[in-house]
Amino acid sequence: MADGIAALLLDGRLAPGIRLPSERELATVLSISRATATSAYDELAAGSLLVRRRGAGSFLRLPSAAQVTGPGSRMARNSREAGTLDLSIASLPALPGIIEAATAQVAELVGAYARADGYHPYGITQLREAVAEHYRKRGVPTTVEQVLITNGAQHGFDLALRALAMAGDRVLTELPSYPGALEAIKAHSARAVAVPMDFHTGGWDTVAMGSALLQSSPRLAYLMPDFHNPTGALIGTEQRERVARSARRSGTRIVVDESFVEIDLRQEADTCSMPVPMAGLDSSVISLGSLSKPIWGGLRVGWIRADSETVQRLAVARARGDMAGAVIEQLIASTLFQDLAGAVAVRRKELAAQRDVLLAELARQLSGWQVTPPAGGLSAWVELDAPAATALTHRLEQKGVLLSPGSRFALDGMLERFLRIPFALQADQLVRAVGLIAETWRELDTAQLAGRRPSSLVTA
Ligand SMILES: Cc1ncc(COP(=O)(O)O)c(C=O)c1O
Repeated sequence: MADGIAALLLDGRLAPGIRLPSERELATVLSISRATATSAYDELAAGSLLVRRRGAGSFLRLPSAAQVTGPGSRMARNSREAGTLDLSIASLPALPGIIEAATAQVAELVGAYARADGYHPYGITQLREAVAEHYRKRGVPTTVEQVLITNGAQHGFDLALRALAMAGDRVLTELPSYPGALEAIKAHSARAVAVPMDFHTGGWDTVAMGSALLQSSPRLAYLMPDFHNPTGALIGTEQRERVARSARRSGTRIVVDESFVEIDLRQEADTCSMPVPMAGLDSSVISLGSLSKPIWGGLRVGWIRADSETVQRLAVARARGDMAGAVIEQLIASTLFQDLAGAVAVRRKELAAQRDVLLAELARQLSGWQVTPPAGGLSAWVELDAPAATALTHRLEQKGVLLSPGSRFALDGMLERFLRIPFALQADQLVRAVGLIAETWRELDTAQLAGRRPSSLVTA
């Protein structure tokens, strides 16, 4: 029983910090003796996975030694060897010629800007208007004053933390969540409250999220309802409404990261309507967007959409670190907005095909692994048949394949049974990568790994 509870915790199905039923309740519900329940809890406590608080109950926790997360992403590397299959980051090169064409157009526009000082702390009006129009098309009335241009979505979240959260504040996240966001929360000395995604539907567990909101009253909730990274899940309108209601009650400000909203890979994406954007459900929602995923990460252009007062606070917070974004990149971005839909349509077609290749290869070569086909985004969230993702990624690195284990998308030590596999590479590279993954998995003694106690896996 202790191993079962530990595995649920380390796989992210039970969140750290939750109170377990009392030993007496557990014994009654499971029809076991009280002594059995007590010894299971004793064993968890001995493995530092449970803490007993007198008068309050028994709570799950992660041992401090469970730091299995490492700099698995390319972000932490200074260089990369030629021939590496890099699946550690979910992003794409720009479509051929599109940046070149936009840059050529900008050469004619930049002169007018160069005659003024060039500091636009909120972003150039032309781009702010394009972003505002983008939201209006999604059914959310938006004025230019509600838009702040940033150097990408990550910058946007950092600004939200800087301006709206204090050290020690709680920030609710999904589990798994985007590592860059988890790292930003940590860097701001805020505390992440991770709520596991629903393992049956792959979407939000709105009951768990509602109680986490009410119990811990987080200052912010960082959520990705529009093609969640890493699972690719799309959250329905009803679930969004429920979470918006709970957040209103707990006084929590919702920050939605919509980096992947354009990467809709549903079969009938052109005719399927999207759920209501979170900003359309509550005027206090802060939305983060970016051209990094639909167009190109090298542009470093993103934005924040919020009420105008919040936009002003965020702009003031920004000025403390950097004065304003680069005008030329913003002009290029404005130009690209003119046919965003056209560029995205090409992207979607390529990505849907690559996703299908990846899923087919995984099913063929690793049939014991489970994947819910992602509705959108750039990656598949894969459940292995043993909690050994970090060991697998270390071995793969020696063969020139870079991948992120599930633990990068979690609080320290969790989600060792999961792997994120992006499908941003070309089909032939994906086939080669899955071949190497399958070969390496067979080399690992998975039978032995599956039998190992979860607590010994984290502290190893
Ligand atoms: C969910 C999410 N948000 C933000 C980012 C960073 O995006 P940007 O390049 O816009 O800063 C990424 C990049 O992978 C991401 O996956």
